[in-house]
Amino acid sequence: MTDKFQNVIDQMSLEEKASLCSGQDAWHTKGVEHLGVPAIMMTDGPHGLRKEAGNSGEPGMQPSVPATCFPPAVLTSCSFDRDLMHEIGVAIGEECKQERVSVILGPGVNIKRSPLCGRNFEYFSEDPLVAGEISAALVEGIQSQGIGTCMKHYACNNQETSRMINDSIVDERALREIYLPAFEIGIKKAKPWTLMCAYNKVNGTYACEHQELMTDIPRDEWGFDGAIMTDWGAMDERVWSIKSGLDLEMPYAGPHNDQLIVEAVKSGKLDMATLDRTVRRMLELAEKGKVNLVDNFKYDIEKHDAVARKAASESAVLLKNDGILPLKQGISLAVVGEFAQKPRYQGAGSSRINPHKITSAINELDSNGIAHTYSRGYDLKGKEDAESLIAQAIETAKGKDVVLIFAGLPDAYESEGFDRTNIDMPREHNALIERVAEQNPNVVVVLHEGSAVSMPWLDKVRGVLYMGLGGQCVGAAAVDLLFGKVNPSGKLTETYPLKLSDAPSSKQFGQRLVTQYRESIFVGYRYYDKANKAVLFPFGHGLSYTQFAYSDLQTSQSQISDQDTLTVKVKVRNVGERFGKEIVQLYVAPPQSAIFKAQKELRHFAKVALEPGEEKEVSFVLGMRAFAYWNVLIHDWHVESGTYEVLVGSSSADIRLKAKVDVRSTAGDVTVPSYREKAPVYYALPQGNLDVPLEQFEEVYGNKINIPCEVDKAPLTMNSTIYDARHTKVGKWLMASTKKNLQKMVGGDTDDGNMRMMEAVLIDLPFRSFGMMGMPPKIIEGLVLIMNKKIFKGLGFVIKGITAQKKARK
Ligand code: BGC
Repeated sequence: MTDKFQNVIDQMSLEEKASLCSGQDAWHTKGVEHLGVPAIMMTDGPHGLRKEAGNSGEPGMQPSVPATCFPPAVLTSCSFDRDLMHEIGVAIGEECKQERVSVILGPGVNIKRSPLCGRNFEYFSEDPLVAGEISAALVEGIQSQGIGTCMKHYACNNQETSRMINDSIVDERALREIYLPAFEIGIKKAKPWTLMCAYNKVNGTYACEHQELMTDIPRDEWGFDGAIMTDWGAMDERVWSIKSGLDLEMPYAGPHNDQLIVEAVKSGKLDMATLDRTVRRMLELAEKGKVNLVDNFKYDIEKHDAVARKAASESAVLLKNDGILPLKQGISLAVVGEFAQKPRYQGAGSSRINPHKITSAINELDSNGIAHTYSRGYDLKGKEDAESLIAQAIETAKGKDVVLIFAGLPDAYESEGFDRTNIDMPREHNALIERVAEQNPNVVVVLHEGSAVSMPWLDKVRGVLYMGLGGQCVGAAAVDLLFGKVNPSGKLTETYPLKLSDAPSSKQFGQRLVTQYRESIFVGYRYYDKANKAVLFPFGHGLSYTQFAYSDLQTSQSQISDQDTLTVKVKVRNVGERFGKEIVQLYVAPPQSAIFKAQKELRHFAKVALEPGEEKEVSFVLGMRAFAYWNVLIHDWHVESGTYEVLVGSSSADIRLKAKVDVRSTAGDVTVPSYREKAPVYYALPQGNLDVPLEQFEEVYGNKINIPCEVDKAPLTMNSTIYDARHTKVGKWLMASTKKNLQKMVGGDTDDGNMRMMEAVLIDLPFRSFGMMGMPPKIIEGLVLIMNKKIFKGLGFVIKGITAQKKARK
């Protein structure tokens, strides 16, 4: 039967088909006018709309239209609240509708493998279930408005350092158990319209041409039926990528790649049917995308502001409270720290939103008539004399009932484009807290940051409220929480280690060419638990102004097979004096096994609202996956027979109730892989820092790992970057002129996160992606040859490139 898409495909020329495989500019797909196929707009996200005003076509060059800045994923994930995520999604969808944007480029669901990843603020969790469930709810909310989403960055984009050329070496089991499930849950539950492939390679192959990642897993296994686009500039080998299942190259990078597709079909290298497969997906996307492009839709700015405020207050995490919070009205109050006046409420990079308004804590205190004395405490740019600012803060704090110190990570400390090198807050912030607390013990710290930090002063302060990056209403939400108008109910979705070297990936992170995920499945609490390592704050931790009691844990059966489901019920009572919300966490602990396993893994969660004295029964249904691990011998999920424990608690370190269940496997004769002999480190994680020997990781990885030689010693290729070429004359010139032009553009403020981000991105841009900036591939190839000292051949290429470009312009 020919459907309407087939009819359109039948009428298209080969050139028209190829043209649909790349964008029209930075933010639009191409249309085919005579066949009525519209071009649609896709733009960033994800925690609000970043639609560039004007239409320069160049990414990141234009200010964006005002939009509501909701809290980024780092904070909203801590709500553990699917309904809240849905509500945020609906609001974002409405903003897209008003701005005639068909697809928003988010959410980003990568796992926080290391606290150092510069983009952790855009990601949800170290735990795949949380990342999957929370992002699926957001996707459902956005798509309920007829607006598409784009789950990204698929997959294993867990660092920013040389993200466009780095190779993530991940064993099959860790890939399936840790890095893919967030995408899997999102796709199965919420059906995102599109996916965005990551920049990096996964196990030696660029994500964009990885058949398993582009087709076998998402489409054949999980049922994904949308289009997959590249991250901006992530295209490597155009024809291969189409074959492997990637559809759309973004942004437009000149006619070259479309032409390659045409030639490949003509020469028989690419089947027309394979091209048609992509064309059909693009036609379906265009069809869906045009439906909601209604005129005159207006969203309610105030209503969305209220959603942003609610999102921040329902997600913030009360990390420490010795009884000082909530604050009482009428106390004498000192407010210290520039963040109180200029909050850091979002991160730098492609997700940066231009908010309608920003409410700082000072604004909120003032508008509520709450008396306070303010002192800056530090200079956010780190330029002014720290000593005198601290001295002034100490004066302000003297004799006050309570001192609120707003501190954390300034913009230049974390961003898309580069990673952090430590987990410390700026020295001035730490010194300020220590020194003020010496003078006045009644200090409460309010933290603004997008990733875990160390807190050397923790014992010296009485309370810590984590506001993450809290969106445009962060100040209002902080005041609501500090004064008890809202009872804190968020919990951490990442572990806060005591120090960086405690983190399981600390030895294997941020490498330039190849990053080995040697810790395998031991990411986040899965590692700290098993290694019995003390942490600053555990995964799932968060306090409330009330208390909750757990009782009556019941399982529907004491024995099940791996084909059954198990219902688990537990009662939770609010035994305090205030209304509050509790996040009930259900973990499953496996029996002893031949294969190494985490001590327990989060398998379900629910957020319950309770009036004082009220009790509710919470019910969870567990399926086979709650008990399964990925078996690399059968390349499938497998449940081992044995007695599992169901653990219910208030955090990963605060388990309140336990029950046992016998699970019987129906899988027949399946060998459970054992690495006990050859990779013993995974069975007895050392107390000290994790440093998995290469040979042991190779056992688990199932292959030898080929570590390529340093770029500096190798010939440069189209996949090398300006940084790699810095020792050549052309490279030096490229490096200097990039920096100079950037400074001109950004205004030369090198302390600014945005400047650092753009510099990092450009210096690490592979030559193959220069097409995005309008440079034809022949010229780029020529430059690479010249840098490799093949001067004459290179010049020949450059001249050919320039001539071809001139011809094309005529
Ligand atoms: C980022 C994506 C973003 C895209 C478009 C890329 O550099 O990695 O997350 O959607 O730019 O701005």
